[in-house]
Amino acid sequence: MKKLNVGIFGAGRIGQIHAMNLVNNPNINIKRIVDPFADKLKDFEEKIGIKLETDPDVIFNDEEIEAVLICTPTDTHVDYIVKSAEKGKHIFCEKPVSLSDEESMKAYKAVKEAGVKFQIGVNRRYDRNFAYVKKLIDDGKVGDLELVRVDSRDPEAPPLSYVKSSGGLFMDMTIHDFDMARFLTGKEVVEVYTQATVKCNKEIEGVDVDTAIINLIFEDDSIGVILNSRRAAYGYDQRVEAFGSKGTAMVENDLEAN
Ligand SMILES: NC(=O)c1ccc[n+]([C@@H]2O[C@H](COP(=O)([O-])OP(=O)(O)OC[C@H]3O[C@@H](n4cnc5c(N)ncnc54)[C@H](O)[C@@H]3O)[C@@H](O)[C@H]2O)c1
Repeated sequence: MKKLNVGIFGAGRIGQIHAMNLVNNPNINIKRIVDPFADKLKDFEEKIGIKLETDPDVIFNDEEIEAVLICTPTDTHVDYIVKSAEKGKHIFCEKPVSLSDEESMKAYKAVKEAGVKFQIGVNRRYDRNFAYVKKLIDDGKVGDLELVRVDSRDPEAPPLSYVKSSGGLFMDMTIHDFDMARFLTGKEVVEVYTQATVKCNKEIEGVDVDTAIINLIFEDDSIGVILNSRRAAYGYDQRVEAFGSKGTAMVENDLEAN
């Protein structure tokens, strides 16, 4: 079977995770990885065994590269999406697309016009347990959905430097939970209320929040609640519950018993 040639923009935290996953995928050949700070990424370069490059054009102009992964800081996503689409390359881009509706629509238009495939990095839909809750809902086992709860806690609060460029808790972290709420219900949200505070990292006071409760009202009058924290002392904690007229379906992290 022919391997798909891909190029990766950005080899930081998430770029390295995607790259290492792709190395283990027999259908993929990572042809090029570009990062302007390649000189600081020697350990990763050695681990993956691919020479990092610094000029994005080497990916844009490589006709053998059919698909790209955009794993760069959020404020660069739209430029990379538009250029990749213009070059006819299929695109996986990390969330969020951008921090403004206008910029996101620019990316959407470029992708539509080019007719390329586009996927955004909202990964939790592919978690087998969360996908199973969705299946139970779709199979009618839960009945009419009345209430959805999403608990989402990160292991460690990010530093101020990250918070400043992240778009804040709601754009950076709750985005996964908004996606989960829409994915499970198949409904659009029509109203949002939130209460939020700073409990994990006082350094971010006045810049962002790190602990939040978000109430959602969906178009059919069903309701949802998202509970967020940037820090859970015991590690990454993800749970959902879909409660309906016939019963409830809930999942938590997969934990090892011993
Ligand atoms: N889906 C998820 O769960 C998830 C998790 C973490 C991060 N993210 C998203 O991934 C993106 C990157 O986050 P990160 O935590 O990996 O950040 P990071 O700072 O660790 O890595 C970004 C990398 O991009 C490089 N870079 C900077 N400008 C570039 C450019 N113009 N071209 C190519 N590379 C460039 C940097 O040198 C760095 O190595 C963000 O949009 C973030 O929201 C998603």
